[in-house]
Formats: sequence, C-alpha cells, structure tokens
Amino acid sequence: MKSSINKCLFPAAGYGTRFLPATKAMPKEMLPVMAKPLIQYGVEEAVEAGMNIMAIITGRGKRAIEDHFDISYELETQIKDTPKEYLLEDIRSLIQKCTFTYTRQIEMRGLGDAIYKGRVLIGNEPFAVVLADDLCTSEGEGVLSQMVKIYQKYKCSIVAVEEVDISEVHKYGIISGREIDDNLYMIDTMIEKPKQSEAPSNLAIIGRYILTPDIFELIAQTKPGKGGEIQITDALMMQVKKGMVLAYKFKGKRFDCGSIDGFVEATNHFYQKSHTQG
Ligand code: G1P
Repeated sequence: MKSSINKCLFPAAGYGTRFLPATKAMPKEMLPVMAKPLIQYGVEEAVEAGMNIMAIITGRGKRAIEDHFDISYELETQIKDTPKEYLLEDIRSLIQKCTFTYTRQIEMRGLGDAIYKGRVLIGNEPFAVVLADDLCTSEGEGVLSQMVKIYQKYKCSIVAVEEVDISEVHKYGIISGREIDDNLYMIDTMIEKPKQSEAPSNLAIIGRYILTPDIFELIAQTKPGKGGEIQITDALMMQVKKGMVLAYKFKGKRFDCGSIDGFVEATNHFYQKSHTQG
C-alpha cells in the first residue's frame, strides 16, 4: 500500500441547520472564524500534512466553496498594488499548491454515503477525511500530520479521538480498544452515537480520519444505521473485524464549530491568539 497520502476528502454537502438563517444561502463550511472560512482551515491542515489534492463533496447551494478556491479576477485587479493585497496571500498560495476536485452528493444519506461519493475522486489509494466543522488547532504539528506519521508506520485506517464528558457520548462515534502505544488504541468496538448506558468508553471520534481504499467496498455493504443513514462508523467496524483500525488521541484542541457554543469558543481562541502574537 502507498505510504504517502496526497488526497484529502471534505464532506461538505450538509445543510448546517444549526446555523440557520446564516446557512440558508451560504454553505456552513464558509462561515468564518476571524476572517477565514472553516473549510480553509481544513485545507491548510491537509496541505501542512503533505496533501495537495482536495476532493470536496458538495451539494446544492454550495458553489461559494468552488468560487473561494478559485481566482476572483475582478476583486484581484481592484486590490492589486493596494495595502489590502496581502489579505489574499494565503488563499492564493493554497490555490497554487493544490488541485480542487468536486462531486455532488445528491441525497443526504449520511457521512458514509458522502465518503462513498468521493470514490471517483480518490481512486485506489489511502486518503484523509476532514469534517470542516471540527476545527483543530495545535501548538506543534497539525492533527492530520500527526495521523500521517502513524499511518506510515501501521498502514491501516485511523480515526482521531478525544475524551468527552460521558453526557456527550450520544453526539459522537464512540470507540473502545487496547492501548498499543502512547495515545494509540487498537479498536475493538465502535458505536455511532450510543446512549450513555451503551457507550463502550468516552473516547469520541472527531472529524479527522485516514482511510484505506478498501473502505469503499465496505461502505457499499453497509446497511443504514443510526438515523437511517449510512454511517462511516459502521463501515469502519467491518474493517475492524477484517483487520485493524487505530484510534489516535491527538495532541491539540478541537472546536465543534457545528454548534454555536463551539463556534464562539473557536472565535475567541483565534482572536486571543492573533492578539498575543501581536
Ligand atoms: C460524524 C460521525 C461521528 C463523529 C462526528 C465527529 O457525526 O458520524 O461518528 O463522532 O462526525 O464530528 P455528525 O457530527 O456528522 O453527526
């Protein structure tokens, strides 16, 4: 199996109902924390981890994402040689470094289905998945970089996990496993959004995955699960039974920007950070 990971998949077809009315005509992935849209944070994390092909699963009403990762001639001509030009430097350099590919998820049939739709963009190689509303930040290497290193050693699918309060387990995929190295678990069980009484632990999957391409066949065999949707957690559980899937308790902090509370927390965090850096 290929040891480098070049492609990163971004499921971005969801409606973002928790942010209505802001998300009525604007993709939730374009909500900004400071002046940067959520999805751009995710793309930057993927680039830092060595990836240069971004595979974005979009849906109706998501065209702003494509326009964001493109040149805006009129705007760029307007601000050329003005003091504002630097504001576009980061996004310009991302556009130069990466290729962006898109396909649409026609019906909302769950995260597993969204990932499956990316099969045509990914092909037969390992790839990363970023859920842009989980915004991750760390002092050192980004979360995806940390995961790529683990992938290079073990060559299997990996999910990022963090400990959550037991009262929160119903919001996440929850794993349990045996710790085989510092912060690294070999998964034996994973359950999508269990009740507190059924949760095998308080280790919750957050929106960073590295998946080996056999996952596509397994998703194809996955029956609708929690909420009547095709769950990636269920497909990964099949992978556990056939071989090995790891869970990695990452170094860093994650903000749930799919909720107002998490979004405000992230905004405060990045605001503080920008002010302490001068
Ligand atoms: C999805 C996954 C879940 C995971 C979560 C992380 O759920 O299904 O296993 O814990 O992302 O953010 P969602 O939040 O899309 O309902």
